Amino acid sequence: MSKSSHILRSGIHTNNSSKNRTTVAVEPSTVHNSEGAAALIPKQNALHNCFAAVPRGAEELAAAELGTLGLCDAKPGKGGVAFSTDRAGLYRANLWLRTASRVLVQLSQFPCAGPSELYAGVHDIAWQNLITPDMTLAVDCSLRDSALTHSGFVALKTKDAIVDRIREACGSRPNVDTASPDVRINVHLHKNVCTVSLDSSGDSLDRRGYRLERNEAPLRETLAAAVVALTGWDGSIPLADPMCGSGTIPVEAALVAAHMPPGLQRSFGFQRWLDFDKALWDKICSDAEAGIRRLPVGLVTGYDLDNRALLLAGRNTSKAGLEGQIHFFHAALQEFRPEGDKGVVIINPPYGKRLGEEEDLRELYCQIGDIMKKYCRGWTGYVLTGNLELAKYIGLKASRRYVLYNGAIECRLLKYDLY
Ligand SMILES: C[S@@+](CC[C@H](N)C(=O)[O-])C[C@H]1O[C@@H](n2cnc3c(N)ncnc32)[C@H](O)[C@@H]1O
Repeated sequence: MSKSSHILRSGIHTNNSSKNRTTVAVEPSTVHNSEGAAALIPKQNALHNCFAAVPRGAEELAAAELGTLGLCDAKPGKGGVAFSTDRAGLYRANLWLRTASRVLVQLSQFPCAGPSELYAGVHDIAWQNLITPDMTLAVDCSLRDSALTHSGFVALKTKDAIVDRIREACGSRPNVDTASPDVRINVHLHKNVCTVSLDSSGDSLDRRGYRLERNEAPLRETLAAAVVALTGWDGSIPLADPMCGSGTIPVEAALVAAHMPPGLQRSFGFQRWLDFDKALWDKICSDAEAGIRRLPVGLVTGYDLDNRALLLAGRNTSKAGLEGQIHFFHAALQEFRPEGDKGVVIINPPYGKRLGEEEDLRELYCQIGDIMKKYCRGWTGYVLTGNLELAKYIGLKASRRYVLYNGAIECRLLKYDLY
């Protein structure tokens, strides 16, 4: 099996004097063809074939999230969820999805066993209706089990076909900008079938916009959201994180309880598309804002030994629009005594990647077990760790185990019913 991915990094520049993006109107039509007909952005009410890319282990969660957004045909698969939706649904998916990393809109799919098929298939798409010469683009590429094995080459060939098509139609071509392109294009080759999509998210969706600085081992926001979703916590009982670091778990939990969309503080790729419907987007955002509620004191709490991490947690909370609604305390795990007779405690302890660290951490994992057993009666405990050997030192029997990935690290979320 071969797998590789690439983002086109070579900036190729032409002088385009025109700054008028409306000179080429988007004339919407339907999508998907391998026969050579133009593939264009669908009409407002027409359906997009979409794919929400999701960290492994969270596919079912993302499908359930899409279901709650009314996008009921979601089909979870490996690494993501396929679904179809109109423009409003696409905007809402980007705004609301907590566990997905990006939402792709499929433009075309065709057999592709070599460079000429790739070039022809990409060139077939009427790119001039999506990208004008004064816009910028970037191509992301991922390959699996295909004859073409060099992702850099595939990205470059794709870019060539796109800019050639636009130059033929408009007389000049757009530039590449890998950092902040107007249009991000995603090419995925699997078993010699090429899928070309527009990336409607732009920056990955785990970049919520609330994290200003990173501490040493922050959880990805999408993973923290997946953990909260797996606990089934809905904001009706307290949630505490005794080793909260920069506060990713409490913030993601608070966003759920406050009915606040995770994407409210950021912008999205589709906002730079030619067919961007600002009125529709403003309405979706103001409807979402109208549903936000303020959290009661003590509902979500975080604790840590590290003052610097707590400072970050406080700043992240404010930036997320939750100022004063999550309460953080400087405390060692050993002092953790949750109030109330039921709640959810989520612990993401360090799991020691380097030799020697593991030994030091055994004691900490023993303490996690002790604290949960002695002081969290009636609560439900969850421990997220990438180290199953250390997890044994918790010394309690897990009632469930979920597999999740923190980047490349396979993790377990262990559930403990604490009587
Ligand atoms: C893996 S990090 C948690 C990362 C966090 N989920 C985030 O997203 O930033 C583990 C945290 O446990 C804290 N910690 C380590 N030992 C502790 C102890 N005995 N009591 C309380 N916190 C501790 C560290 O300061 C660190 O912030």
